[in-house]
Amino acid sequence: MTCVASGHEVVPLEGDELCRQEKDFTGYADMGIVRFNPGSWLLVAPFTKFADKIYKFPVKSSDVYIVTWPKCGTTWCQEIVWTMRNNPNLDHPMAKLPVNARVPFLEFDMLLQSKLLKPPGPDDPMMQGFKKMCPGKDPADGLFFQMSEASPDPRTIKSHLPLSLLPTDMLKTSKVVYVARNPKDVVVSFHHHCKMFKNHNYTGSFEDFVQYFVNDDLLYGPYWLHLKEAWERRDEPNLHFIFYEDLKSNNIEELKKLNTFLGTNIADTQLEKISHYTSFNEMKTRADVVSSGSASNFMNVEVIEKDGGFFRKGKVGDWKGKYTPELEAKIDDWVKKNLQGFGINFKYVT
Ligand code: A3P
Repeated sequence: MTCVASGHEVVPLEGDELCRQEKDFTGYADMGIVRFNPGSWLLVAPFTKFADKIYKFPVKSSDVYIVTWPKCGTTWCQEIVWTMRNNPNLDHPMAKLPVNARVPFLEFDMLLQSKLLKPPGPDDPMMQGFKKMCPGKDPADGLFFQMSEASPDPRTIKSHLPLSLLPTDMLKTSKVVYVARNPKDVVVSFHHHCKMFKNHNYTGSFEDFVQYFVNDDLLYGPYWLHLKEAWERRDEPNLHFIFYEDLKSNNIEELKKLNTFLGTNIADTQLEKISHYTSFNEMKTRADVVSSGSASNFMNVEVIEKDGGFFRKGKVGDWKGKYTPELEAKIDDWVKKNLQGFGINFKYVT
């Protein structure tokens, strides 16, 4: 059994469990799927190669990490934080680069191993960005990992990993913005994401996807434990906790809190402009910039045509009407059971 620097044991999925995952998520087929215990974090096996490098990632006092479970508003927050820190006057030429080039996705290399993706050629915008940022480096050692390392200061870096797999001194040294979103919208959004992105390529039903979610069998593993690890540390001075629902209903107030946390000293009138610039409709019009220059390699076009692209709805309460009564009872029970003792009241509809 492999043991990594964070103290987790890496347990490969086998037998029926592996077959079921590989049948439903054909983007993971042949990569191997593992659990990191304790925590039962579900990850694709190529993560194992990066686990120690990420755990020992040299964090800097000027770093800000955006940490989320998938689909909680990561991209939105990446754009807000990068803009507040680097582009308060909305005139920075680098703002035209894809957000994942400005705010690199620390562990994304694990998902680049999918057989359903074409290996990026030298003309691929992602590869060109890598060559510019990491001259002389070998992409095989991690395109996104090395872009995270080489990102110009002050670095803003994204991760979906739980705090227990991230560098131990991250919260001592750097700042972390943790974004949470109600689980009923998260699972609807993640279902769409896993159908749309070829490196997941989910082929099963929505009902089965919800079952994967409540069984903690989706990539990145237990939603509640991820949230708990951050929520328990919410009073630490370097952790700032945001709810997607508050960012949506009270955007300016949330940007003001971020302004204080990040120490960006942006005037209220300018925050209004940043709020507009990072609104759903504005980001959607810049979708190519905000997502990835090589999106067609990553995305299933027919899913986008039928159900929308990355900027799908951007709403609170979009889950309404998506669940059968039985399925809704199942997720409601699961939420109720898991929320006990948490002290969080999610807002489901605004
Ligand atoms: P929906 O699928 O519900 O529309 P992440 O970046 O963590 O993957 O989250 C993606 C979700 O955030 C998607 O939700 C997306 O539409 C939404 N989103 C992205 N930018 C947004 C914005 N500026 N305002 C509100 N929601 C946004």
